[in-house]
Amino acid sequence: MQVPNIVSMKPTVIIGAQWGDEGKGKVTDILAKEADYIVRFQGGNNAGHTIVVGDKVYKLHLLPSGAVYGKKSMIAAGVVVDPIVLCKEIENIEKDGRKLDLMIDPLCHIIMPYHKILDKAKEQSRGDSKIGTTGRGIGPCYSDRVNRSGIRFIDMLNPETFRSKLISKLEATNPILEKIYGFDPLSVDEIIESYQSSIEKLKAYLGDVSKAVYEGLDNKNVLFEGAQGTFLDVNFGTYPYVTSSHTISGGIFPNVGIPPMALDVIGIVKAYTTRVGAGPFPCELEDENGEHLRKVGHEFGTTTGRPRRCGWLDLFMLKYSNRLNGFTHLAITKLDVLSGLDKIKIGVDYQIDGQSVDFPMTIDQLEKCEVVYKEMDGFELEQGISSYDLLPDNAKKYCDFIEEYLGVKVSMISTGPKRSETIFVREGLAMKMA
Ligand code: GDP
Ligand code: IMO
Ligand code: MG
Repeated sequence: MQVPNIVSMKPTVIIGAQWGDEGKGKVTDILAKEADYIVRFQGGNNAGHTIVVGDKVYKLHLLPSGAVYGKKSMIAAGVVVDPIVLCKEIENIEKDGRKLDLMIDPLCHIIMPYHKILDKAKEQSRGDSKIGTTGRGIGPCYSDRVNRSGIRFIDMLNPETFRSKLISKLEATNPILEKIYGFDPLSVDEIIESYQSSIEKLKAYLGDVSKAVYEGLDNKNVLFEGAQGTFLDVNFGTYPYVTSSHTISGGIFPNVGIPPMALDVIGIVKAYTTRVGAGPFPCELEDENGEHLRKVGHEFGTTTGRPRRCGWLDLFMLKYSNRLNGFTHLAITKLDVLSGLDKIKIGVDYQIDGQSVDFPMTIDQLEKCEVVYKEMDGFELEQGISSYDLLPDNAKKYCDFIEEYLGVKVSMISTGPKRSETIFVREGLAMKMA
């Protein structure tokens, strides 16, 4: 498949514009064909990025999606790594006969067994106000990074350093596990033993990602792959129903360790909205339309298998997402899933007591918002269409409306999970039709 150069030679970042699972894996994989480096910069194995190549489905949690093309794949310092999960993923890719060219930054923080236990125990103790985390230990691991008690790859390279850091960590953590949550204490030796073989294996991949990316910026095509989505950002998402990292485009700089620079920012916009886990969701549908989206879109979590909550496209929310990320291009995904609906609604404004408001800063305010919808006629669209001209008129109108409302050009439209099921709209729809 020819992949048109839809973005400039600036470094490019793929960002989930909504609550995750927008199809970042598919778009990253497609663009990886023309990229030299593909860099994951935040999150951990809470992510689940699906790539479909022929009959084969890859679900990547930690490996950048460039790994399927065998491109130089990098895990930057901002990613939290579960070494056991990463080793399994590497084995799966290699078992498939694919060569892996991987670099992991030694400054990555490591997800330890107590992070996973604490993640689940804290969720349990939240009762009705559960966040609905993936249970992968992400929050506790990032907490340790910030409170300066984390263990990084580089600390594990020297057995004495690893042991002494682990001893002091368990001195502080075991009483919490035992006294607050009623778990057995963890043993230093058992943890070291359970991590030893994966750390040994991963040692071969360690390298200074910050330096490699910096040096590559002049003459390499660098693609940054975001995980999660804008509204899961730890600062600007629907706090506290968020993840623990910065998911917005500016997060790249401190997480990779490169200076600020102009980027092409591709916002991945699912043609409707989904969310896994708890938290407000103004455009949520709990009727047959929501059921249609879940069923036709196979909206079940890639990482946890949980049913995803589904709703109409929320352009008002995406306007805020655009402000946070500075999208230069949009990729609309899963347009085929809307096929067969008689009428389609799009959220275009939020109001409280009949007055339009900015996107609220608190979830209490968000819960008070009434969504104003625009209604459009539905369409029948066969999965897999790869030419813009073959899109039904109402589907074109839908994409046009997104482009006009947000003022950002739509450069790609996805109509199925496979690489070939993609429409490249090189200059944006409006320019194409002019
Ligand atoms: P990510 O986390 O953003 O990479 O997205 P996920 O992989 O978690 O979820 C997206 C799902 O939609 C995956 O199962 C993809 O294979 C699938 N997918 C991606 N693009 C399309 C599309 O245009 N149409 C359909 N029907 N499925 C798609
Ligand atoms: P990708 O990269 C969708 C959600 C969880 C939960 C919240 C916090 O595949 O888009 P965490 O385990 O991170 O502490 O959970 O964030 N979440 C995701 N939702 N897609 C993801 O990743 C997600 N990663 C985390 O469901 O609501
Ligand atoms: Mg996903």
